[in-house]
Amino acid sequence: MRAHHSIARWRANHLLAAGATLVLACGTVGAQPADRALAAFDLVRSVLQHPRCQNCHIPGDAPLQYDEGLRHAQYVMRGPTGHGAVAMECNTCHGDSNRPASYGDRAPPGAPNWHLPPPETKMVFIGLTPRQLCETIKNPRMTGGKDLNTMYAHMRDDKLVAWGWNPGGNRAPAPATQAQTAAAFKTWMDAGSPCPTQ
Ligand code: HEC
Ligand code: HEC
Repeated sequence: MRAHHSIARWRANHLLAAGATLVLACGTVGAQPADRALAAFDLVRSVLQHPRCQNCHIPGDAPLQYDEGLRHAQYVMRGPTGHGAVAMECNTCHGDSNRPASYGDRAPPGAPNWHLPPPETKMVFIGLTPRQLCETIKNPRMTGGKDLNTMYAHMRDDKLVAWGWNPGGNRAPAPATQAQTAAAFKTWMDAGSPCPTQ
Protein backbone atom coordinates (compact mmCIF):
# COMPACT_ATOMS: atom_id res chain seq x y z
CA MET A 1 0.00 0.00 0.00
CA ARG A 2 2.62 2.40 1.21
CA ALA A 3 4.94 1.65 -1.71
CA HIS A 4 2.04 2.08 -4.06
CA HIS A 5 1.28 5.45 -2.61
CA SER A 6 4.77 6.73 -2.94
CA ILE A 7 4.90 5.61 -6.55
CA ALA A 8 1.68 7.48 -7.15
CA ARG A 9 3.14 10.52 -5.43
CA TRP A 10 6.35 10.24 -7.43
CA ARG A 11 4.30 10.03 -10.59
CA ALA A 12 2.30 13.07 -9.56
CA ASN A 13 5.45 15.06 -8.80
CA HIS A 14 7.00 13.92 -12.02
CA LEU A 15 3.94 14.99 -13.97
CA LEU A 16 3.94 18.35 -12.19
CA ALA A 17 7.58 18.84 -13.12
CA ALA A 18 6.85 17.88 -16.73
CA GLY A 19 3.93 20.28 -16.70
CA ALA A 20 6.12 23.08 -15.40
CA THR A 21 8.65 22.40 -18.16
CA LEU A 22 5.87 22.52 -20.73
CA VAL A 23 4.60 25.82 -19.37
CA LEU A 24 8.14 27.21 -19.55
CA ALA A 25 8.53 25.89 -23.10
CA CYS A 26 5.22 27.42 -24.12
CA GLY A 27 6.31 30.70 -22.58
CA THR A 28 9.21 30.77 -25.02
CA VAL A 29 7.02 29.70 -27.92
CA GLY A 30 4.77 32.65 -27.02
CA ALA A 31 6.76 34.82 -29.39
CA GLN A 32 5.94 32.58 -32.38
CA PRO A 33 3.56 33.93 -35.05
CA ALA A 34 1.02 31.11 -34.62
CA ASP A 35 0.68 31.89 -30.92
CA ARG A 36 0.43 35.59 -31.60
CA ALA A 37 -2.32 34.86 -34.12
CA LEU A 38 -4.22 32.72 -31.60
CA ALA A 39 -3.86 35.39 -28.91
CA ALA A 40 -5.16 37.97 -31.40
CA PHE A 41 -8.08 35.69 -32.25
CA ASP A 42 -8.89 35.38 -28.56
CA LEU A 43 -9.21 39.15 -28.24
CA VAL A 44 -11.56 39.17 -31.25
CA ARG A 45 -13.51 36.28 -29.71
CA SER A 46 -13.91 38.10 -26.39
CA VAL A 47 -15.45 41.02 -28.31
CA LEU A 48 -17.74 38.95 -30.56
CA GLN A 49 -18.98 37.01 -27.52
CA HIS A 50 -19.47 40.08 -25.35
CA PRO A 51 -23.14 40.76 -24.56
CA ARG A 52 -23.06 44.05 -26.55
CA CYS A 53 -22.28 42.02 -29.67
CA GLN A 54 -23.69 38.54 -29.12
CA ASN A 55 -27.15 39.80 -28.09
CA CYS A 56 -27.83 40.29 -31.84
CA HIS A 57 -25.75 37.33 -33.06
CA ILE A 58 -28.13 34.64 -31.88
CA PRO A 59 -29.64 31.36 -33.09
CA GLY A 60 -33.19 32.24 -31.97
CA ASP A 61 -35.83 34.53 -33.41
CA ALA A 62 -35.76 37.36 -30.85
CA PRO A 63 -32.86 39.66 -29.93
CA LEU A 64 -31.47 39.46 -26.39
CA GLN A 65 -30.96 42.21 -23.80
CA TYR A 66 -28.64 43.03 -20.91
CA ASP A 67 -25.46 41.28 -19.82
CA GLU A 68 -27.58 38.25 -18.88
CA GLY A 69 -28.83 37.87 -22.45
CA LEU A 70 -32.54 37.89 -21.54
CA ARG A 71 -35.14 37.78 -24.28
CA HIS A 72 -35.92 41.28 -25.61
CA ALA A 73 -39.03 42.81 -23.96
CA GLN A 74 -42.18 43.75 -25.94
CA TYR A 75 -42.14 40.43 -27.90
CA VAL A 76 -39.70 41.90 -30.39
CA MET A 77 -39.00 39.35 -33.16
CA ARG A 78 -36.37 38.97 -35.89
CA GLY A 79 -38.99 39.13 -38.65
CA PRO A 80 -38.54 38.12 -42.31
CA THR A 81 -35.44 40.29 -42.95
CA GLY A 82 -34.02 40.86 -39.46
CA HIS A 83 -35.60 44.32 -39.17
CA GLY A 84 -38.39 43.08 -36.91
CA ALA A 85 -41.97 41.95 -37.40
CA VAL A 86 -44.32 44.13 -39.44
CA ALA A 87 -45.43 47.14 -37.34
CA MET A 88 -42.78 46.20 -34.75
CA GLU A 89 -39.66 47.08 -36.73
CA CYS A 90 -36.50 47.80 -34.76
CA ASN A 91 -36.45 51.40 -35.97
CA THR A 92 -39.83 52.07 -34.37
CA CYS A 93 -37.82 52.38 -31.15
CA HIS A 94 -34.13 52.33 -32.11
CA GLY A 95 -32.79 55.44 -33.83
CA ASP A 96 -29.50 56.18 -35.61
CA SER A 97 -27.74 57.03 -32.36
CA ASN A 98 -28.15 56.68 -28.61
CA ARG A 99 -30.60 59.06 -26.96
CA PRO A 100 -29.24 61.91 -24.85
CA ALA A 101 -28.47 60.93 -21.26
CA SER A 102 -31.59 62.85 -20.13
CA TYR A 103 -33.71 59.99 -21.53
CA GLY A 104 -32.29 57.75 -18.79
CA ASP A 105 -30.46 54.43 -18.75
CA ARG A 106 -33.36 52.38 -20.11
CA ALA A 107 -33.81 54.35 -23.33
CA PRO A 108 -33.46 52.26 -26.50
CA PRO A 109 -29.87 52.47 -27.76
CA GLY A 110 -29.29 53.43 -31.39
CA ALA A 111 -26.94 53.10 -34.36
CA PRO A 112 -27.49 53.34 -38.14
CA ASN A 113 -29.44 50.40 -39.57
CA TRP A 114 -30.22 48.76 -36.22
CA HIS A 115 -31.44 45.23 -36.99
CA LEU A 116 -30.64 41.53 -36.74
CA PRO A 117 -28.99 39.44 -39.45
CA PRO A 118 -31.61 37.81 -41.70
CA PRO A 119 -32.98 34.39 -40.74
CA GLU A 120 -31.12 32.61 -43.60
CA THR A 121 -27.69 33.73 -42.33
CA LYS A 122 -28.02 34.38 -38.63
CA MET A 123 -24.28 34.88 -38.06
CA VAL A 124 -24.45 33.24 -34.65
CA PHE A 125 -21.66 34.17 -32.21
CA ILE A 126 -23.34 33.19 -28.94
CA GLY A 127 -22.80 29.82 -27.25
CA LEU A 128 -19.98 28.61 -29.53
CA THR A 129 -16.62 27.28 -28.41
CA PRO A 130 -13.65 29.37 -29.62
CA ARG A 131 -12.98 26.82 -32.36
CA GLN A 132 -16.61 26.79 -33.52
CA LEU A 133 -16.69 30.60 -33.57
CA CYS A 134 -13.46 30.65 -35.57
CA GLU A 135 -14.82 28.16 -38.12
CA THR A 136 -18.11 30.06 -38.34
CA ILE A 137 -16.56 33.39 -39.23
CA LYS A 138 -14.30 31.69 -41.79
CA ASN A 139 -17.25 30.06 -43.55
CA PRO A 140 -18.87 32.47 -46.05
CA ARG A 141 -22.00 30.30 -46.07
CA MET A 142 -22.52 31.19 -42.40
CA THR A 143 -21.79 34.90 -42.83
CA GLY A 144 -23.93 36.02 -45.72
CA GLY A 145 -21.05 35.61 -48.17
CA LYS A 146 -18.57 37.87 -46.36
CA ASP A 147 -14.95 36.78 -46.70
CA LEU A 148 -12.40 37.65 -44.02
CA ASN A 149 -11.27 40.86 -45.75
CA THR A 150 -14.83 42.15 -45.96
CA MET A 151 -15.39 41.20 -42.35
CA TYR A 152 -12.21 42.99 -41.32
CA ALA A 153 -13.46 46.19 -42.98
CA HIS A 154 -16.82 45.67 -41.25
CA MET A 155 -15.12 45.31 -37.82
CA ARG A 156 -13.02 48.41 -38.45
CA ASP A 157 -15.56 50.81 -39.97
CA ASP A 158 -19.13 49.70 -39.34
CA LYS A 159 -21.19 52.15 -37.25
CA LEU A 160 -23.41 49.45 -35.77
CA VAL A 161 -20.29 47.56 -34.68
CA ALA A 162 -18.91 50.82 -33.23
CA TRP A 163 -21.99 51.05 -31.00
CA GLY A 164 -20.60 48.10 -28.98
CA TRP A 165 -17.99 50.42 -27.50
CA ASN A 166 -20.42 53.28 -26.98
CA PRO A 167 -23.57 51.47 -25.89
CA GLY A 168 -25.24 54.29 -23.96
CA GLY A 169 -27.03 54.10 -20.62
CA ASN A 170 -25.15 52.11 -18.01
CA ARG A 171 -24.40 49.22 -20.38
CA ALA A 172 -20.87 47.82 -20.19
CA PRO A 173 -18.92 48.40 -23.43
CA ALA A 174 -17.22 45.58 -25.34
CA PRO A 175 -13.58 44.91 -24.32
CA ALA A 176 -10.57 46.74 -25.87
CA THR A 177 -11.40 49.36 -28.55
CA GLN A 178 -12.80 49.02 -32.06
CA ALA A 179 -9.37 49.89 -33.53
CA GLN A 180 -7.57 47.35 -31.33
CA THR A 181 -10.13 44.69 -32.22
CA ALA A 182 -9.79 45.37 -35.95
CA ALA A 183 -5.97 45.29 -35.62
CA ALA A 184 -6.17 41.94 -33.79
CA PHE A 185 -8.50 40.61 -36.50
CA LYS A 186 -5.95 41.63 -39.15
CA THR A 187 -3.04 40.03 -37.24
CA TRP A 188 -5.00 36.78 -37.06
CA MET A 189 -6.16 36.97 -40.70
CA ASP A 190 -2.70 37.80 -42.07
CA ALA A 191 -1.23 34.85 -40.15
CA GLY A 192 -3.52 32.47 -42.08
CA SER A 193 -6.48 32.68 -39.63
CA PRO A 194 -5.59 29.62 -37.50
CA CYS A 195 -8.33 28.23 -35.25
CA PRO A 196 -7.84 27.19 -31.62
CA THR A 197 -7.98 23.43 -30.99
CA GLN A 198 -11.24 23.65 -29.05
C1 HEC B 1 -28.36 45.51 -33.20
C2 HEC B 1 -27.82 44.26 -33.57
C3 HEC B 1 -26.32 44.08 -33.70
C4 HEC B 1 -25.36 44.34 -32.77
C5 HEC B 1 -25.55 44.97 -31.41
C6 HEC B 1 -24.10 43.89 -33.32
N1 HEC B 1 -24.30 43.37 -34.57
FE1 HEC B 1 -22.90 42.57 -35.77
N2 HEC B 1 -24.24 42.34 -37.25
C7 HEC B 1 -25.56 42.71 -37.17
C8 HEC B 1 -26.18 42.57 -38.48
C9 HEC B 1 -27.59 42.91 -38.83
C10 HEC B 1 -25.17 42.10 -39.35
C11 HEC B 1 -25.29 41.84 -40.85
C12 HEC B 1 -24.94 43.16 -41.43
C13 HEC B 1 -24.92 43.23 -42.89
O1 HEC B 1 -25.19 42.25 -43.57
O2 HEC B 1 -24.58 44.34 -43.36
C14 HEC B 1 -23.97 41.97 -38.54
C15 HEC B 1 -22.78 41.51 -39.04
C16 HEC B 1 -21.62 41.47 -38.30
C17 HEC B 1 -20.38 40.97 -38.78
C18 HEC B 1 -20.12 40.42 -40.13
C19 HEC B 1 -19.93 39.00 -39.86
C20 HEC B 1 -20.68 38.13 -40.64
O3 HEC B 1 -20.89 37.03 -40.08
O4 HEC B 1 -21.03 38.48 -41.78
C21 HEC B 1 -19.47 41.09 -37.79
C22 HEC B 1 -18.00 40.69 -37.79
C23 HEC B 1 -20.14 41.71 -36.68
N3 HEC B 1 -21.46 41.91 -37.02
C24 HEC B 1 -19.53 42.04 -35.52
C25 HEC B 1 -20.16 42.68 -34.47
C26 HEC B 1 -19.47 43.17 -33.30
C27 HEC B 1 -17.99 43.06 -33.08
C28 HEC B 1 -20.40 43.72 -32.50
C29 HEC B 1 -20.20 44.38 -31.18
C30 HEC B 1 -19.11 45.32 -31.03
C31 HEC B 1 -21.69 43.58 -33.19
N4 HEC B 1 -21.50 42.94 -34.36
C32 HEC B 1 -22.90 44.00 -32.67
C33 HEC B 1 -26.24 43.13 -36.05
C34 HEC B 1 -25.64 43.49 -34.85
C1 HEC C 1 -41.02 48.66 -28.74
C2 HEC C 1 -39.70 49.25 -28.80
C3 HEC C 1 -38.57 48.38 -29.31
C4 HEC C 1 -38.50 47.66 -30.47
C5 HEC C 1 -39.56 47.50 -31.55
C6 HEC C 1 -37.19 47.06 -30.50
N1 HEC C 1 -36.49 47.41 -29.38
FE1 HEC C 1 -34.63 46.79 -28.88
N2 HEC C 1 -34.69 47.85 -27.15
C7 HEC C 1 -35.76 48.64 -26.76
C8 HEC C 1 -35.44 49.29 -25.48
C9 HEC C 1 -36.33 50.24 -24.70
C10 HEC C 1 -34.14 48.84 -25.13
C11 HEC C 1 -33.35 49.21 -23.88
C12 HEC C 1 -33.82 48.36 -22.74
C13 HEC C 1 -33.03 48.58 -21.48
O1 HEC C 1 -31.84 48.83 -21.54
O2 HEC C 1 -33.66 48.43 -20.41
C14 HEC C 1 -33.72 47.96 -26.20
C15 HEC C 1 -32.50 47.32 -26.23
C16 HEC C 1 -32.05 46.53 -27.26
C17 HEC C 1 -30.76 45.94 -27.32
C18 HEC C 1 -29.67 46.14 -26.31
C19 HEC C 1 -29.31 44.88 -25.64
C20 HEC C 1 -28.20 45.01 -24.67
O3 HEC C 1 -28.50 45.20 -23.49
O4 HEC C 1 -27.05 44.86 -25.07
C21 HEC C 1 -30.69 45.22 -28.49
C22 HEC C 1 -29.53 44.42 -29.00
C23 HEC C 1 -31.94 45.39 -29.16
N3 HEC C 1 -32.76 46.19 -28.40
C24 HEC C 1 -32.23 44.86 -30.39
C25 HEC C 1 -33.42 45.08 -31.07
C26 HEC C 1 -33.69 44.59 -32.39
C27 HEC C 1 -32.69 43.83 -33.23
C28 HEC C 1 -34.94 44.96 -32.72
C29 HEC C 1 -35.73 44.63 -33.97
C30 HEC C 1 -35.73 43.23 -34.37
C31 HEC C 1 -35.47 45.71 -31.59
N4 HEC C 1 -34.50 45.75 -30.61
C32 HEC C 1 -36.72 46.25 -31.53
C33 HEC C 1 -36.94 48.81 -27.44
C34 HEC C 1 -37.28 48.22 -28.63
